[in-house]
Amino acid sequence: MGCIVAIGAQWGDEGKAKMIDYFSKDIDIIVRYQGGANAGHTVVVDGVKHVFHLIPSGILHEGKICIIGNGVVVDPEVLLDEIELLENKGIQVEGRFFISDAAHILLPIHKAFDEAMEEFRSHKIGTTKRGIGPAYSDKCLRIGIRVGDIFDEDILYERLSFDIKLKNLYLEKVFSKQPFAPEKIFEIISRFRDKVSKMVINTAHYLHTAIDAGKKILLEGAQGFALDIDHGTYPFVTSSNPTIGGALLGTGLNIFDIEKIYGITKAYITRVGEGPFPTEIKGEIGEMLRTKGGEFGATTGRPRRCGWFDLPLIRQARRINGITDMVLTKLDVLSGLKVIKIAIAYKLNGKEIDYFPSSQLHRVEPVYVELPGWEEDISSCTCFDELPKAAQNYARYIERESGIKLSLISNGAERKNTFKVS
Ligand code: GDP
Ligand code: IMO
Ligand code: MG
Repeated sequence: MGCIVAIGAQWGDEGKAKMIDYFSKDIDIIVRYQGGANAGHTVVVDGVKHVFHLIPSGILHEGKICIIGNGVVVDPEVLLDEIELLENKGIQVEGRFFISDAAHILLPIHKAFDEAMEEFRSHKIGTTKRGIGPAYSDKCLRIGIRVGDIFDEDILYERLSFDIKLKNLYLEKVFSKQPFAPEKIFEIISRFRDKVSKMVINTAHYLHTAIDAGKKILLEGAQGFALDIDHGTYPFVTSSNPTIGGALLGTGLNIFDIEKIYGITKAYITRVGEGPFPTEIKGEIGEMLRTKGGEFGATTGRPRRCGWFDLPLIRQARRINGITDMVLTKLDVLSGLKVIKIAIAYKLNGKEIDYFPSSQLHRVEPVYVELPGWEEDISSCTCFDELPKAAQNYARYIERESGIKLSLISNGAERKNTFKVS
């Protein structure tokens, strides 16, 4: 069996972590491939909620190997906290959690820079202020520090001193902010090094060896298609590639290693932060979805904007990622709506288009169909046939019009609230 990939098909928070946890029972190795602690991944098991920002969401399954791939930017403070939290819950991390030596390190200077840039910008992005843009910028500028570098005192000292000097110049002279004391940063790295020294490996080599040995691998995406730096709603995007290209680059696997690509797709749509959102619902129904769906950021606590399902967006997600299977999540949240809308196309400059424009999204008007809703609470359904007819029709409509095979439905936050669709 080849590797499977779980990618967010919309603007993030589709319920990826819940599904990663679900898939993990049949998997040997789970790998995060991009993003950083901007991700907020929630898994609920027997009423207990676990939120992960960096550690793969498969970690709750005993004995499974979890890996942070080279494409991730690693915040040492967040990771140390996350490891400690898991260990305090009695979940073993050491011996089954590894970090790529080629992953980049994200430091407090990146977070300060992110925050200062947000304040300074004329168009706010609404970032998570987790330092993501600045850390990936450093990677591209070739001044970043990789996890493997922290074990070489000379390289570390030289690179870090340079980076701190440069960032402090910006912070002081451009943004009028306090500079950072290098000692504080060195202290964080030193604590990190002590804890993770045995966890740092060449993950690309590890993964290819595991594939040769017949192991099953699951790649865990963060964010989602429309937040992709290349294919999303630039500049209102994140600074990495959540799409399939990022999964390969961020792990060192190649296209022939991949067998299935799951598009994790919310039954409606949400977005956090700024940027165009054609199907956004303002008012009572948007409020109802937010409250019922618990649509508040798992990382920042910000209310998520809610909207109707968007077919042009999902079709583009299918094309860009090569999605083979859809997981439709949070279908239970739609119960109680008399009518449910789905955007089937957009109007742009008076003309109907059925694709997702790369730069004109803020100008489009959605064209909707209206489908009948259902009253019943569906969270106790255990198979497709138990769903009310209107919910079945809604799911099948999305399957047909998106061109993606509907494989699984999630009808609640708990691990058990998932069933296969044939
Ligand atoms: P991720 O970033 O894609 O992993 O998603 P988040 O964890 O940020 O947000 C998804 C939220 O919806 C979490 O609070 C999950 O516990 C919850 N959730 C996931 N699937 C379902 C579902 O099918 N129904 C309901 N009601 N909640 C769900
Ligand atoms: P998960 O993995 C939803 C959004 C931010 C902002 C934009 C850029 O939980 O789905 P950044 O901090 O990355 O520079 O912010 O991207 N964003 C997310 N939205 N889910 C996420 O992750 C997100 N990670 C970043 O709100 O609009
Ligand atoms: Mg999230």
